[in-house]
Amino acid sequence: MNPIKKMLALPAALLALWTMSATATTSDEIAKRLEPVGQVCIQGQECKGMAVTAAAAGAGARSADDIVAKHCNACHGTGLLDAPKIGDTAAWQARADHQGGLDGILAKAITGLNAMPPKGTCGDCSDDELMKAIKKMSGL
Ligand code: HEC
Repeated sequence: MNPIKKMLALPAALLALWTMSATATTSDEIAKRLEPVGQVCIQGQECKGMAVTAAAAGAGARSADDIVAKHCNACHGTGLLDAPKIGDTAAWQARADHQGGLDGILAKAITGLNAMPPKGTCGDCSDDELMKAIKKMSGL
């Protein structure tokens, strides 16, 4: 190999190495971007994952009407499977009396009761939200 070719070969080899490591960095970055958002949050920096969590928590602002319409109405609207009907205060009152008050039927709504699914299918409803929905439906 003549000296000039040698001089050209070395940078070429270095360039190849550099390219390979640059590629590695890039796929690291891609891997990082593919991580679940929660894992790439860095303290002190804006974190989109947190915003999503906050938005979900903000769903606590759902109104009783929203919850009833979305989750409870399917059965309680028509009294399906003997569910106490929306607005049938007497039926709800009888149940409340039987379970020791609204807290008692709330407890049943949380755990589920026969054909009544746990939390009335509103898995992310808080106890407060369920209580609001029960009050709304029962008028109690
Ligand atoms: C799949 C149908 C269905 C859905 C959806 C549903 N319920 Fe019910 N629910 C029932 C049935 C059926 C009963 C009566 C159960 C029994 O007494 O055997 C009932 C009973 C109840 C009771 C009375 C419990 C007791 O101790 O007597 C409460 C409170 C209640 N539901 C709340 C809710 C709330 C709140 C929602 C919506 C977040 C909801 N339900 C959604 C079917 C449903």
